[in-house]
Amino acid sequence: MPKSEDGMYIAKYVKELWKNDRKDVLRKFLPEGFWRLLMLRSYRKRYPTAFVSSDSDIGTSTRIGHSCIVWRSYVGDQVTLGDYTAIGLDSCIGGEGDVTIGKYCAIAANNYIFSTNHNHRARTIFSLRIMKEARSRMLPPDCYSIPISIGNDVWLGRNVQVLAGANIPTGCVVAAGAVVTRGDYEPYTILGGVPAKPIAQRFSDNVAAELLDSKWWDKSGDEVFSEEMIDYLLSEPE
Ligand SMILES: CC(C)(COP(=O)(O)OP(=O)(O)OC[C@H]1O[C@@H](n2cnc3c(N)ncnc32)[C@H](O)[C@@H]1OP(=O)(O)O)[C@@H](O)C(=O)NCCC(=O)NCCS
Repeated sequence: MPKSEDGMYIAKYVKELWKNDRKDVLRKFLPEGFWRLLMLRSYRKRYPTAFVSSDSDIGTSTRIGHSCIVWRSYVGDQVTLGDYTAIGLDSCIGGEGDVTIGKYCAIAANNYIFSTNHNHRARTIFSLRIMKEARSRMLPPDCYSIPISIGNDVWLGRNVQVLAGANIPTGCVVAAGAVVTRGDYEPYTILGGVPAKPIAQRFSDNVAAELLDSKWWDKSGDEVFSEEMIDYLLSEPE
């Protein structure tokens, strides 16, 4: 057993983790259906106009816009999902920094969008210096967080990782398996690879400018889902 003050905090932290795991084990003693029913009722109450599957794990202060769809995913406290955004199976979106995702985004299965890194600039990545915080928070504290921002109408393919500080502008498509870091990207770019680099522009500059100017994602649902607008948005520019 460590004797120093910091060592004691580490011991407490480990104890805390055991406690949490015990809670998890206890929860597994409940019939799965019972637990899912509890979550279903709770998510329906919190997000009456969205769909959040009962096997998702949602933070207590997560903001989920209307008509969003979240399938079996973890979405943490600091996350904001814009209206109509859909999250695929088994994604993990969180961290200690804000993660803001715009409207009408499609986030495929197995995405990892996380705003926190271990402090690799220190001599050790081990959580020594501010271990004291571990008493109240479950995240290892010697970390730093940089907000992540994802624009509107963005598609993240399967198995994409978006790292702390990334900024993916409106209209971008991220190819399956890419790792998006802190780059400067233009709207309506297709990004791919590790680290993600522009593969192509989706449209000419004129078309991209027209879409950006239109800000169609900020219009009311009635306007966006009008027949005329649907035809416009589904058409492919020359
Ligand atoms: C990004 C994507 C949309 C591009 O599709 P596309 O326009 O048909 O592109 P192409 O297959 O013609 O490939 C264009 C170029 O991008 C490259 N590329 C395509 N996918 C890539 C990927 N995942 N990572 C890196 N490069 C990729 C191709 O090698 C090609 O390069 P080249 O021009 O040097 O030959 C598609 O590859 C993709 O990743 N889709 C995601 C699918 C998915 O995750 N679906 C989940 C359900 S929502």
